[in-house]
Amino acid sequence: MTDARLADLATRLPGLRLLTDAADLEHYGRDWTRRWTPAPLAIALPASVEEVQGVMRWASGHGVAVVPSGGRTGLSGGAVAANGELVLSLERMNRVLAFDPVDRMLTVQAGMPLQAVQEAAKAHDLVYPVDFAARGSCTIGGNIATNAGGIRVIRYGNTREWIAGLTVVTAAGERLELNRGLIKNSSGYDLRQLMIASEGTLGIVVEATVRLTSPPPPSQVMLLALPDMDALMRVFALFQSRLSLQAFEFFTDVALRHVLAHGAQRALESDYPYYVVTEFDAADERAQEAALAAFEAGVEQGWILDGVIAQSEAQAAALWRLREGITESVAPRKPYKNDVSVRISAVPAFLQAMQDLLGREYPQFEVVWFGHIGDGNLHINVLKPDDLDDAAFIAQCEQVTKQLAATLQQFGGSISAEHGIGLVKRPYLQSTRSAVEIALMRGVRQAFDPQGILNPGKLFAPEPVESRNN
Ligand code: FAD
Ligand code: MLT
Ligand code: ZN
Repeated sequence: MTDARLADLATRLPGLRLLTDAADLEHYGRDWTRRWTPAPLAIALPASVEEVQGVMRWASGHGVAVVPSGGRTGLSGGAVAANGELVLSLERMNRVLAFDPVDRMLTVQAGMPLQAVQEAAKAHDLVYPVDFAARGSCTIGGNIATNAGGIRVIRYGNTREWIAGLTVVTAAGERLELNRGLIKNSSGYDLRQLMIASEGTLGIVVEATVRLTSPPPPSQVMLLALPDMDALMRVFALFQSRLSLQAFEFFTDVALRHVLAHGAQRALESDYPYYVVTEFDAADERAQEAALAAFEAGVEQGWILDGVIAQSEAQAAALWRLREGITESVAPRKPYKNDVSVRISAVPAFLQAMQDLLGREYPQFEVVWFGHIGDGNLHINVLKPDDLDDAAFIAQCEQVTKQLAATLQQFGGSISAEHGIGLVKRPYLQSTRSAVEIALMRGVRQAFDPQGILNPGKLFAPEPVESRNN
């Protein structure tokens, strides 16, 4: 350990696991964006809240930047360490700490994978309902730091709805107990909620108390094929008025081509422009008949061209794979990811405006559209053409995103619906937040982290050093 600061850290915390091998720096220094070259100072893997506190005291003493790190499945570069930062990985802090059946709450360490939290809830016949394809790798701490959404938001809301308490370590190493599992607490600013979606810029989440709920009734999964976006929105309104939806997710023919090429099973014989995977309560025959009637009404109107209802759990999983497999299937094409939201009612007009723009000005790009349409959340993935190098591709995509951000501003939408701002969307924050809002957000950061050592450069550009020290 040649770096004097690291030698001091090892002396202060002799039990702390510290990694400095090149392969580890590379592994822990990047996330799913794969855009930046990892260059962290070292990786710290604390095993307790006290060790996290010790690391932060050391970091603030030496002015070392710290990147909190979960499963590094983030899609906006929030967990990237490319500038000599210390990566603070929560991966060893992955245990259940407590369960209370009266409160119906589970307290876990922040490095616990989302799927493990779901399984821990299930062991008590309850459900932690936030869910999405990265469940096996992402952590509850990362979900909290990004306010993750996923495929069940239409029924259950985002991560924010499910967090009843947080234990947080501040930049200076203090321990905060925020909200402590209380349902009602009108005692001033809700610092717990401020932590959610703060992307590691306000504190390190070390423990979380999550609310659990009863399992939903038995459900059915349906795949629908549709002619256009207008029909899709009409089917959404129809299904929402007649059924109790758990999910309503869309993707295009282009997305389907990629998933099928990646090994998913074809469910319909013909090809169609748009698809929806929807899941709804179907506890009894009446509910199942209502679903069939809604489907037939959509067919009669010409809004639904084809469809299939899963007849088994395996078939339901195969239909879900068509939607959930999209991210992995396009990953080899180094997609430039956009994750935007508008009000649900504005989706067709926004989508049309963007499709017109992309078709007119960027015909060279293959664009994959999919997302959580029932929440007004669209994922617009631009795929890299083989003949374009990475830098030229990103430069062109940034032009696209500039225009996308301007269109979003007209629609009053958001440049990040659920992935966070990180590094990728930092230049476009002002399309979603006003100058006054951004100044207030910077003020909050200054209050929590006056030295600016927590995940600097993420969410907004680092403060110039003079103003940081004022
Ligand atoms: P990381 O990537 O490690 O970090 C994300 C951010 O959180 C960084 O800024 C990091 O510094 C900060 N952070 C991490 N842990 C902590 C902590 N303990 N304290 C403070 N800050 C911390 N996201 C969705 O919202 N919905 C989806 O449907 C969805 N689907 C996905 C599907 C796939 C296949 C993949 C690869 C990703 C998907 N994502 C989705 C994105 C990603 O999984 C989420 O953003 C997730 O919440 C990130 O968790 P993580 O543990 O991997 O966080
Ligand atoms: C999804 O909804 O599948 C995710 O947010 C992942 C992605 O956008 O690629
Ligand atoms: Zn998503």
